[in-house]
Amino acid sequence: MHSVIEIIKKKRNGEVLSSEEIQCMVSGYTNGTIPDYQMAAWLMAAYLMDMNEEETAALTEAMMYSGDTIDLTSIPGIKVDKHSTGGVGDKTSLVLGPLVASFGVPVAKMSGRGLGHTGGTLDKLESIPGFKVDMSAEHFIDQVRNHQIAICSQTKSLVPADKKIYALRDVTATVDHVALIASSIMSKKLACGSDAIVIDLKIGDGAFIKNIEDAKSLATLMIKTAKRMDKSLVAVVTSMEQPLGFAIGNALEVKEAIETLQGHGPADFEEVCIHLGAEMLLMSNTFQDHESAKNACIEKLHNGSAYSKFCEMVTAQGGELAYIDEIESRIKNSFSKAFLSTSSGYIHSISAMDLGLAAMRLGAGRETKEDTIDYNAGIMLHKKVGDFVNVGDTLAMLYTNDEHGFEKSASHLESAYIFDEQPPTPSPLIITKYA
Ligand code: URA
Repeated sequence: MHSVIEIIKKKRNGEVLSSEEIQCMVSGYTNGTIPDYQMAAWLMAAYLMDMNEEETAALTEAMMYSGDTIDLTSIPGIKVDKHSTGGVGDKTSLVLGPLVASFGVPVAKMSGRGLGHTGGTLDKLESIPGFKVDMSAEHFIDQVRNHQIAICSQTKSLVPADKKIYALRDVTATVDHVALIASSIMSKKLACGSDAIVIDLKIGDGAFIKNIEDAKSLATLMIKTAKRMDKSLVAVVTSMEQPLGFAIGNALEVKEAIETLQGHGPADFEEVCIHLGAEMLLMSNTFQDHESAKNACIEKLHNGSAYSKFCEMVTAQGGELAYIDEIESRIKNSFSKAFLSTSSGYIHSISAMDLGLAAMRLGAGRETKEDTIDYNAGIMLHKKVGDFVNVGDTLAMLYTNDEHGFEKSASHLESAYIFDEQPPTPSPLIITKYA
């Protein structure tokens, strides 16, 4: 039996912990014998003193086996999963899942909720009336077998350790740490049972990872952890300097995802979906080269196949299909307002973090896990980085049902935009890939 205080002290002093010591922390915290204050101290020690590859793998395994794991082997074919490290306007899973499934590739995806400035796939899907994200493991497996796609919430019994530890990290300033993020993501992905995983590793202002060095460390750690478990993993680093697409907010993002599935989405968002879709198709051995896979994705977005797979998923999960057709008229907000430019010039940057926070203050996100979400609230950008604007031009439309929403979001909006007389140098959206 290890002493919890000794384990905390060892990490605090920068020593390497054994897998047994890490297992002791994880199981003790999950079953309630280790209190929040000791786990918080240990997390902060790990945050400050770091963990090596073996410790990260041990933490991943301890969390992965803290509850049930899902066995997808009864579903034929290579099962692919996708995970985003989180961003603003990131509705990628809504398009990518149906797109890849429309090739007959099984996509078994468990998603999360938004917190703070980032959005969550489950909240976006739940903005569709009737859409159910809670399902048993058996139901999840059946749906993937019958429809090639299911997107649901993590069942209670799946990786309970991460659920508890993540909530504690969230309130102890220990989220943005490479080894802790790697073990958190990988424990969930590995427990979900897919054979191949594509990580959309977001970097930039609106992401948890701010620079390419940390992105490389995170990708390397995740690749090594996946290999240990005999899974393949590719991490595509994509930019989260400005929001993806034009829509921020749950129903608004579903609308934009539908437009993209119908072949007329925003160029930046479509580029990310097609690139990641091609990676997933390569991993499933559906295509042998990226170019052919990309072209096939473009075709499925334009010929209605990806959209019809999305509708099939909505119906299978109890969502109201009529809502999808009528979404434009069904998104209702009591208050709307244009956010006008007070400068003229080229938009040099739009802080994804600030706009994510502004959307949250309009009601689209939660500050704490207990907050409720207003599905219809949010922001529609009218301009993006590189556009030229004059004083008085509309930068974005704001939507809310909170009479104080505009005041609450004002400071974030005002600090979000930087203008310049010269156009900015274009920066790539798809930055690099680690495999
Ligand atoms: N997403 C996760 O699932 N876990 C983290 O720690 C960070 C992002």
